[in-house]
Amino acid sequence: MTDKLIPLRIAGVGYCVPDTVITNEDLTKLYETSDEWIYTRTGIKERRLVSGNQNAIDLGYEAAKNAIEKSGFAPDEIDMIIAASTAPIELYSMGCQIHKRLGITRQIPAFDISAACTGLIYGLSLAKGLIASGMYKNILIVATDNNSKLLDWTDRGTSILFGDGAGAMVVTQAEDGIDDIISIDIKSDGNYDHLISLPFDGKNCPLVEPSEVKPSIIKMNGRGVYSFVAKILPKYVEELLHNAGLKSEDVDYMIPHQANIRIIQAVQDRLGLPEEKVVTNIKYYGNTSAASIPIALAEGVETGKVKLNSTALLCGFGAGMTWGGAIVRLREGIC
Ligand code: UT7
Repeated sequence: MTDKLIPLRIAGVGYCVPDTVITNEDLTKLYETSDEWIYTRTGIKERRLVSGNQNAIDLGYEAAKNAIEKSGFAPDEIDMIIAASTAPIELYSMGCQIHKRLGITRQIPAFDISAACTGLIYGLSLAKGLIASGMYKNILIVATDNNSKLLDWTDRGTSILFGDGAGAMVVTQAEDGIDDIISIDIKSDGNYDHLISLPFDGKNCPLVEPSEVKPSIIKMNGRGVYSFVAKILPKYVEELLHNAGLKSEDVDYMIPHQANIRIIQAVQDRLGLPEEKVVTNIKYYGNTSAASIPIALAEGVETGKVKLNSTALLCGFGAGMTWGGAIVRLREGIC
């Protein structure tokens, strides 16, 4: 521990999406819908889904490996793993599974956080505090989601939205004294828990009473989520900038959670951002939950849409309800 707050550097970002593409047209084989209906309401044309035994640990491992390589650290130099997942395949710690898959030989802390689609921002906020205090140096945040295994594929109001994928970020102490987190904030309101839920009921002891295991399936009130988020998020993001002493023209990019193109446009309009500043890939991946922001960031850099030596506003929301935002510096070499 130290008396002085240590600044944070974003050292590497990475992502991984599965190969299998399911288009809107493909979904018409499951229920009555159309490409036109889905695309005009959501901005989604297709999504990537896992196949066979592939799962969120596989995707998370690939994204983490990628981010660690970009960071220039060796896996054994990672001091902590924070895993954010809304679709964990192992409830007793995705973080530990990623630790094992990366072949890390040191016995470092690895654990999971649950903040749904805001998971990356929650993880980054936690990492910021732990780095600032001097408790940990190199932290890996892995956001990995495999929603396709938790959807009711007869529910056309929900299953059209989601895709699978993972994104990861390595953060470390900034030795030059410049903090890459210009501002960060996280929020929640449990009173809106009914809007999106993923119940895990388990089963009572048969000596107490016989009970059946109910399947764990994502339940969403789409219209309710839309109204809630469209009301709070644009104003919230504007305040985040204001509280940081910034105007929207001071940030080079907005990299939002990819949930619905109309929600993204509502934030964009409120901030008056031109198209070229807004990073979206929802058309090709749908909503990959916690992974959506780091996938959009890493892919944006990879494709040249996001230029480095820049600043970006990350913002998102998710079940809980949770929401959050971060204004970050993107240095050369992170991807
Ligand atoms: O991280 C998770 C975040 N979640 C979100 O961001 C969700 C935000 N909400 C949304 O994106 C939209 O609410 C949806 C795209 C999910 C749904 O759009 P909507 O305009 O709110 O539709 P709705 O649920 O109010 O349904 C309107 C109609 C209904 O038919 P009736 O009752 O008016 O006859 C639905 O049965 O559209 C019907 N419908 C569909 N029709 C064709 C619902 N889903 C479909 C579909 N294809 N896939």
